[in-house]
Amino acid sequence: MKRYLIAGASRGIGRAIAEKLAADDAVLLLHGRDTVALAQTRKAVEPRCAEVVLLVHDLAKRSSVSELISEAGNAPIDLLVNNAGVAVVKRFTEITTIEWEQTVGVNITAPFMLTQHFASRMPPGSSVVNILSIAARSGFANWSAYCMSKFALEGFSQCVREELRDRKIRVINVYPAATDTNIWNEIEGDWPRGKMISPKDVASAVAYALRDRLTSRLKTSPCPV
Ligand SMILES: NC(=O)c1ccc[n+]([C@@H]2O[C@H](COP(=O)([O-])OP(=O)(O)OC[C@H]3O[C@@H](n4cnc5c(N)ncnc54)[C@H](OP(=O)(O)O)[C@@H]3O)[C@@H](O)[C@H]2O)c1
Repeated sequence: MKRYLIAGASRGIGRAIAEKLAADDAVLLLHGRDTVALAQTRKAVEPRCAEVVLLVHDLAKRSSVSELISEAGNAPIDLLVNNAGVAVVKRFTEITTIEWEQTVGVNITAPFMLTQHFASRMPPGSSVVNILSIAARSGFANWSAYCMSKFALEGFSQCVREELRDRKIRVINVYPAATDTNIWNEIEGDWPRGKMISPKDVASAVAYALRDRLTSRLKTSPCPV
């Protein structure tokens, strides 16, 4: 039985990834804060997977991330998806220290703590997937806090990838463009939601990366990583 932990699975891209990865041989550990939304994700995946465990924690607080880690139990995780994220979008002069710290907490410190804990215990062939953004590659006016957090996670995970290589654990970074999810509801402006990609597109890319890497390595190496 495989165990997959998806942070931020209550809606949007995280929910779509949960729906895509649901399988008879998988236990899905689904994280979120909104219990109603998380229950909807559970309802969508439960008939298609071995077991669903819900983890309700605020990732902006380090103590809550530690509680999530304890609640996830001692059995190893085969896939960690660092997907939970927040977007504060305003001129850099207007960002409050609370907004800055919240962005750092959810988008950087939580993935750091989750990766540090779970990747240390992963068996060979496991994966860490980070949902980054095109904002991990380019700066955009008014997106400084968000870009800062995605650039930071990019740097962290590039180094972690090298540290985990010998243990045959993959670190896969995904860089979605604008995706039509609730994250845009709170962002001021007239955004072309109809032209955005869908969360299902991102989930398909994640599933493809997980599947493709496994298959291509199998062709060249006796070790399936
Ligand atoms: N949408 C885009 O255009 C886009 C593009 C590139 C990358 N991304 C990235 O994709 C990821 C998912 O975003 P999304 O677009 O699917 O947004 P979303 O629909 O707003 O979902 C965000 C998820 O993160 C969780 N989350 C937010 N703050 C949290 C906190 N303090 N503690 C715990 N969980 C928290 C939410 O949980 P609750 O709702 O239960 O609180 C929710 O499950 C993010 O990392 C985002 O940066 C999005």
